[in-house]
Parts: sequence; C-alpha cells; structure tokens
Amino acid sequence: MKKVLVTGGAGYIGSHVVRQLGSAGYDVVVYDNCSTGSRTSVLHGELIIGDLADTEHLYQVFAKHQFTTVVHFAASLSVPESVVRPLDYYANNTRNTLNLLRCCSVMNVNQIIFSSTAAVYGEVKENPVTESVPTQPINPYGRSKLMSEWLIQDYAAASSLRYVILRYFNVAGAEPGGRLGQISANATHLIAAAIDAALKRKSAMQIFGTDFPTPDGTGIRDYIHVEDLATAHLDALRYLEENGESQILNCGYGQGYSVRQVISRVKAISGVDFPVIETNRRPGDPACVTACADKISKVLGWQPKYNDLDKIVHTSLAWEMYREGLLQSSLNKPMLHGKITFTT
Ligand code: UFG
Repeated sequence: MKKVLVTGGAGYIGSHVVRQLGSAGYDVVVYDNCSTGSRTSVLHGELIIGDLADTEHLYQVFAKHQFTTVVHFAASLSVPESVVRPLDYYANNTRNTLNLLRCCSVMNVNQIIFSSTAAVYGEVKENPVTESVPTQPINPYGRSKLMSEWLIQDYAAASSLRYVILRYFNVAGAEPGGRLGQISANATHLIAAAIDAALKRKSAMQIFGTDFPTPDGTGIRDYIHVEDLATAHLDALRYLEENGESQILNCGYGQGYSVRQVISRVKAISGVDFPVIETNRRPGDPACVTACADKISKVLGWQPKYNDLDKIVHTSLAWEMYREGLLQSSLNKPMLHGKITFTT
C-alpha cells in the first residue's frame, strides 16, 4: 500500500487531507508537534508526535516507514505574529522544510506536495492572480513560505524530486459531515470573526477599512472551502503518482467576495444580526486578491464541489456550534442547506 507522510496532519487543513487520504485507501503517518493541531483531529492512520526541528527523530520515522510521498503542512501561519517573531517563522517554516528535504534526499523519497500561500504574491496589482505573477511577499510569513518553495524547486532541479506546490487563497469552512473543522483559538480571519460575533463570543466584529477601491469599499478575497482544498491535495498526489512533472498551482475559485458580503451571509445563515463596527484598514491589507484557478483545473483535473460562499459559512457555523455544544452532533443536521436556528 502507498504510504504517505503528512507533516502537520493534526492541523486544520492537514486533518481534512488525512481524512480524505484514509477514504481513498492510503496508508498515512502523521508527524505533528500538536502545538496548534489536535490529536482528536487525526481520524486516520498513525499519529507520531514530533517536531521537524528534531532531525534525529525525523530520520527514525523515515527509516521505519517506506514513504512514497510527503505532504508538508507543518508551519506557523499568522501574518501579524510573523512580523513580531520573524526568526521563529524562518526556523519553523523555512529551516524545517530544509530538514524535511534532507530526510527525503537521504531516504530516497522523491515526491512532495507543499502547502504554500497567496501571501507569496504580496501586493497584487492585477486580478485574478496567475502563478506567473512575480512573487513579492510583504511579510516574514510570506517570505518564509516563498523561501521554502525555492528550497523545494532548487533541490528538485538537482535531484529526482518532483513536487506540487499549492498556493492557497483564503481557506475556510469545515468538513460537511461535522467531524472536522478549525480548532485554533483566537482565529483572526474574517469568517471566524463574524461567526464569533454571531455566537456572541464577542460583542461586535470589526470591518477593517471601508474606503478600498472596490464596489462596496471593503476588501475582496477568494474564499475556498477546506474540503475542496483537501481534494486538490489528493488530485496532486495522483498526478505525481502518474509521473506528472513539477507544478506550482493556485488554489482558489477565482471568485471574490467583499467583507460586507461575507458578513451579510453569516448574519443571514445564523439568523443573528450582530453589531459591526467600521474601522481603519489593517496594515498591509490589499484591496482585492482573487486566484486565477485555470491551471489547477487543467493540470490536475480538480473539480471543486463547495464553490459557494453559503456552503462555506454554513459548514463553519455548524462546526463552531457543535463545538459550543449548541448542536448535539452536526452529523445529524442537513449541513448544506436550510437555516440553523439558535437555541440560546
Ligand atoms: N477582515 C475584517 N475584519 C476581521 C477580519 C478580517 O474586516 O475581523 C477583513 C480583512 O481586512 C480582509 C478580509 O477581511 O480584507 C480577509 O481577511 P483575513 O484575515 O480573513 O484573511 P487575509 O486575506 O488577510 O489572509 C489570509 C490568510 C493568510 C494568507 C492570505 C492569502 O490569513 O495567511 O489569506 O490570501 F496568506
């Protein structure tokens, strides 16, 4: 059976990929230090608690298992945190990718799928963004990921390694069966902030900037459902198994929604008209970022199933309500259509 190593497989995106790998019949080993991920999110395979900085442990894991492919998620991912702790980001993201590649080199693992980000593009001048746009990241997080991309590309050029680098746009949503979702506390991204307000975890939410050159003045982003993103990894894996050549691919829908549009859907789906405070722009926020998703569909044959803002909001909300205990089990609910009624 094909054995896949998933670093960071206990995290938000990694755990969704691990579940899909399990359903597709892959043998999976998760390597995760569980600093932000959770043991309970690993629904398939073996979980090894370990850190990519611990190269000795990593070599032992590679020596024990015969991996055909590595799927590399483990990383730090907060843009503001990367600005105040840049060295931690270069260590955890860039140096640890180097550690992993060294292991791949010594142990002859020659396929890798890497979790990258639209943050490598930096200030976007034209939308939708294609993969050939020059990369100019504007924060340590984006640079640490771009440097990891370069490590992979340079090593691949000098070896038999083949890779698929996936550049994620704005990932959100939860597994529609109610088994998985985002667990991290203090999530700052838009949909999490709006749901926190809907669930009254905070008194109001903020809109960061209403004077952007967009139709309603608020920022526009390309929100992609985590299940579709996970499927892109399985497509990438099959592609590499069929000897596909190395690729860098955007992962988004190519469809943008403004902050006001997202808030309005969260209000409609939750049935809660929570207070919204309009405030100044957040430093470094571009007006609009949407993906050109043509290449991933063409190269991998990727076919998203949840390309709908309501499905993203609905599954996120159901997951958070489940975590709050407002839903007995989101498994029993019609997750993708209809309204969730609050019991509070
Ligand atoms: N926003 C608000 N209020 C909030 C949170 C966000 O108005 O409480 C706005 C932001 O200003 C922005 C939009 O909602 O206009 C989206 O912001 P997010 O924080 O949800 O996401 P970002 O686009 O800033 O960044 C995300 C990831 C990055 C990744 C990037 C790629 O956090 O890691 O997408 O596009 F690199």
